[in-house]
Amino acid sequence: MKFQGKWIKSQEDFGDVAPTFVKEFSLPPNVGEATLTLTAFGVYEAILNGQRVGEYIFAPGWTSSKRLQYQSYDITSLLQEKNILSVTVGKGWYRSPLSGWFEESDTRRIKRAQPSGFAAVITVDGNQIVETNNRWQVHESPVRFSELYDGEFYDANISNYPLLPVEEYPGPNCSIAPQQGDIICEVDRLKSSKLITTPKGEIVVDFGQNLTGYVELSLPPCTKAGEEVVISFAEVLDTEGNFYTDNYRSAKSKLRYICRNGAQTYKPKFTFFGFRYIRLDKYPAACSVNSITAISVHSDMKRTGWLASSNPLLNQLFENIVWGQKGNFLDIPTDCPQRDERLGWTGDAQTFVKAASYNYDTERFFTKWLTDLALEQHGNGCVTHVIPDAMDGQGGSAAWADAATICPWQIYLTYGNKEILENQFESMRKWVDYITAHTTDANLWIGGTHFGDWLSLEPPPEEEPDRLQGSTRADFIASAFYANSTQLVIKAGKVLGLDVLAYESLYEGIVKAFRKKFTSYLSQTEHILALQFELASNPQAVADALAKKIASDNFSLQTGFVGTPYMLHVLTKYGHTELAYTLLLREEYPSWLYPITKGATTVWERWDSIKPNGDLQTANMNSFNHYAYGAVADWVYSVAAGIQTIEEYPGFARVRIAPMPDLRLGWLSGRVETRHGIVISKWQYTGKNIRYDIVTPSPAEIIIDGKTHGVDKGSHVFFGDI
Ligand code: BGC
Repeated sequence: MKFQGKWIKSQEDFGDVAPTFVKEFSLPPNVGEATLTLTAFGVYEAILNGQRVGEYIFAPGWTSSKRLQYQSYDITSLLQEKNILSVTVGKGWYRSPLSGWFEESDTRRIKRAQPSGFAAVITVDGNQIVETNNRWQVHESPVRFSELYDGEFYDANISNYPLLPVEEYPGPNCSIAPQQGDIICEVDRLKSSKLITTPKGEIVVDFGQNLTGYVELSLPPCTKAGEEVVISFAEVLDTEGNFYTDNYRSAKSKLRYICRNGAQTYKPKFTFFGFRYIRLDKYPAACSVNSITAISVHSDMKRTGWLASSNPLLNQLFENIVWGQKGNFLDIPTDCPQRDERLGWTGDAQTFVKAASYNYDTERFFTKWLTDLALEQHGNGCVTHVIPDAMDGQGGSAAWADAATICPWQIYLTYGNKEILENQFESMRKWVDYITAHTTDANLWIGGTHFGDWLSLEPPPEEEPDRLQGSTRADFIASAFYANSTQLVIKAGKVLGLDVLAYESLYEGIVKAFRKKFTSYLSQTEHILALQFELASNPQAVADALAKKIASDNFSLQTGFVGTPYMLHVLTKYGHTELAYTLLLREEYPSWLYPITKGATTVWERWDSIKPNGDLQTANMNSFNHYAYGAVADWVYSVAAGIQTIEEYPGFARVRIAPMPDLRLGWLSGRVETRHGIVISKWQYTGKNIRYDIVTPSPAEIIIDGKTHGVDKGSHVFFGDI
């Protein structure tokens, strides 16, 4: 169906105030099936006869500025003979500055100064009975201000805003497409776990969990008109135990609500926050902590993966990884949900896509995001740093732009649906061609601007002590990812039956040139990439050297966003499983469990977002909800529990279950709901031996202690030696 609603906006400029568009219409009794279809330049909330239409919050979602999604809702049960439809439109992503730290271009500033507009049609039994046109009316709404980074100001004390005329206009200059991704909705409701009076004397509520969403206030009947609630949001308290918001940078993240008389509830309509704590800056005397509920919001993905073990810290890490995904999968994979960023950083998404697709069914989510990636991709193949593009076209960096190849390939492997490769192949190929056209040396990627092994602990070069990219050579990373992306283009091309001969010979050339150029590996990440992307000519020796290097680094990882996701994989692949577990189970800084010992409830951006002495890392780059390092979950699912899909049988059509136990854990279990059914792999030390409990819905290759058991589907128990 092609959506053909006309666009309307208020004749008068409402500035920051969200407009509410209104239409009254009558219908004969007992009409048939009715549908409301709409979209907005901004984010909308539709109310029909006093009832909210649908559960989708922040609709129509965030897409490339080249397209806008529309949604259709079944409104049959909401219709009466006399109807009032009102649609309030907030600024949303389309009218947000998007990235407070990035200087906005004039084009973007002008675009976002356009008023909020929207378009809708109602059909009954297929016949259009209502459409947006200049006979609608508009009034100011109680939403006096609402913006993604800065929060919301809602005045419930004024009503009866005068009705004003609207005008038709051509609407945004982009294509209008049906909803492609998962809808965004409210998911969890959390009550406060603690009320704190900080050393500064401020009243702070602790929800016990860092989350993305907002709070709902339920105010008692004695509430008086004009009383005010002002709430600030924070992820952590500082070393003294005071409310800390410096790491939000320019995002004001505040709620201001003016009450009306009597009992009332309020939750913001068009903004969200990343927070664990709220500070009650102002609140009516009768407001109690019990009257505040935190609500988490995210894309409505189905949970498909669970991990558990005998180690409570490890279990908390698994929880944190899931919360990190919930908090950052809000229509697009964001880097973080709290500061003036919340952008679809490609690098972060590619590190986490595998873990993400074990935890949740992310096929729709990534299909939509990758459609936008291809739309934002420049004609020359350059992939922008963030999708949707909010950085005026900047892009083309190694390991970030490679999301173009890594994400579609992973989604294909996990769900077994070729369509993602059909849709993305052109984009994958163009990305590799971009590198070929932009390197200074054939078959390597030399030059360009990169993020390196972002936030690595490996000491930066002396001349650049403040560099956040570690010591791994940028050309090394770029050339290694060039090889990987080329290989993925070859694999995807073969699945689609395409001729990829040119890429096969390019790949051969890259491997040769890489081996010639990089004869030694300096950092942990250089070893890891050479192994992961099969570039080392003597991989066992490189893996052994990596193991030695880790030992000399005091058995600690030193890697950043680029090396970390592959680290445990390459260790186990070359026989260093015990060391992989040593890293996983390490509690001292730096490690995955260290943040847990500091009370983390989500995955941190930095290994030392809170330093061992309790100090906080520098405020300008310190998110407490950044999922990238949570990529380790994919190793736990696929290696520790051993649940793997086989490339020739994607989507777990045939499963390989090859668990790798470690005596330091009494037991570990993984459970994955695949497209073919539930796979469970659990191992446990019984005292005498190791018991493996395996359940598989599809034919499985079960590999225990290196021996393959040619077992079919069903439940199986094996015993292995300690
Ligand atoms: C984001 C990262 C991102 C990076 C690029 C940061 O500001 O939060 O996660 O990948 O920029 O280096």
